[in-house]
Amino acid sequence: MTKKIRVAIVGVGNCASALVQGIHYYKSVKEKDSIGLTAYDLDGYTPIDIEFVAAFDVSDSKVGLDLSEAIFSNPNNAKKITDVNNLDVKVNKGKVLDGVGRHLAEKINLSNYPTSNISEILKDSQTDILLNYLPVGSREATKFYAEQCLEAGVSFINAIPVFIASEPQWQQSFKDKNVLCAGDDVMSQVGATVVHKTLVKLFIDRGVKVDETYQLNIGGDMDFYNMLDTERLEDKRISKTSAIEAMSPYSIPMRIGPSDFVESLKNDKVCYINIRGKKFGNIPIELDLKLRVADAYNSAGIMIDAIRATKIGLDRGLSGVLESVSAYCFKHPPIQMSYTQAKEKFLRFINGELDT
Ligand SMILES: NC(=O)c1ccc[n+]([C@@H]2O[C@H](COP(=O)([O-])OP(=O)(O)OC[C@H]3O[C@@H](n4cnc5c(N)ncnc54)[C@H](O)[C@@H]3O)[C@@H](O)[C@H]2O)c1
Repeated sequence: MTKKIRVAIVGVGNCASALVQGIHYYKSVKEKDSIGLTAYDLDGYTPIDIEFVAAFDVSDSKVGLDLSEAIFSNPNNAKKITDVNNLDVKVNKGKVLDGVGRHLAEKINLSNYPTSNISEILKDSQTDILLNYLPVGSREATKFYAEQCLEAGVSFINAIPVFIASEPQWQQSFKDKNVLCAGDDVMSQVGATVVHKTLVKLFIDRGVKVDETYQLNIGGDMDFYNMLDTERLEDKRISKTSAIEAMSPYSIPMRIGPSDFVESLKNDKVCYINIRGKKFGNIPIELDLKLRVADAYNSAGIMIDAIRATKIGLDRGLSGVLESVSAYCFKHPPIQMSYTQAKEKFLRFINGELDT
C-alpha cells in the first residue's frame, strides 16, 4: 500500500477551500480531537495522507497562485478555519468550455494564461485521483476533464451533478483504463438530501402515506449565483430529486432544488423541507424543517471519505465504478440506497468485501 494519496483539484472554489483547509486543520489536531470526521482512520488512511499535487481553474484571481492562496481568493467566501502553508502547487489554467456561465462571467475575469496540457500535468504530478468541483451546468468541461483522466490513467471523483459515474459507458471507459470513478454530486455530511431522504423513508417505514414534499434551498455563494441560471440547473434537480424518489415504493409529487441567491448568507446554505401525508386513521401529518449549514464544509468530510475509499480500491486493483462508495458519498450514484444501507455497504467495502 502506498501511504500517500496524490490528489488534483479542478475548480478551486469554496468546496476546494474547505477541503484543503480541512485537511490542514486535521494535520494540526490529535486523533482524539478530530471532531467532525466519520472516521479518522479508514483501512490505514487518515486525512493526513491526502496530498494535493495539482490544481486547475480559469479565473484570473486564482490561476498562477499557489493553491494555499487561491483558496482564499475572490469570489470564494467559505469561512477561514486555518492558515494554510505554501503547498508548492501552482493553480494551472484549465480549459474553459462551458465552466463559466453567464452569471459567473459577471463575477470573474478569465485568466490570460495559456490553457495547460491537463493530462500531461496529471501524469507528471503522479496524480492518483482528480476531484471535479466545477460549477453546476459544466457538462462539456466535466466530460473534458474525465477524458483527461482516462488519457493520463488517473481516477476521477465527480462532486458535481453531471452524470459520469452513474453512466454505464463512462464506467466502462474507466474500467478499460484500469482506474476508478465515483460520483455523482457529493451528498453533504448533514445536508438537505441526506436529511430529506432519511425522513421520507422514516415516514414510509412508519406507515405514513406521503402525499407530497418539497425542498427549497437558498445560499449566498457563487454556486447559488451560478444556479440562478435555470438552464444550468437541470442535472442538479434530477440528481437531488432522484435521491428522494428512490426512498418510496410509490410516486410522490415533489419539487426539489436550489431556489434563490441571498448574498448575505455567503457560504451558508439554508434549506426548508416540507413533508405532508396521512397517518393512522387517515389523519393528516405535516413536517416543516429548517437546516442551516456552512455549505462547503458540509461536503469536505464526505470527500475525504470518498478520496480514501477510492485509494483503497486502487490499492486492491479495482477498476470501473465504485458502487458502495458512490451510494454512500453521492446523491446520484449508479445504485440508489437508503442512507443506512449505503453506510453499511461502504463499511463492508472498507473492511475488505467486494464493492457490490
Ligand atoms: N456542499 C456543497 O458545497 C456541495 C454539495 C454538492 C455538490 N456541490 C457542487 O460542487 C461544485 C463546486 O462548488 P463550489 O461551491 O466550490 O463552487 P464555486 O463556484 O465556488 O467554484 C467553482 C470553481 O470552478 C472554477 N471553474 C469554472 N470553470 C472552470 C473550468 N472550465 N476549468 C477549471 N475551473 C473552472 C471557477 O473559477 C471556480 O473557482 C458545484 O458544482 C456544487 O454544486 C457542492
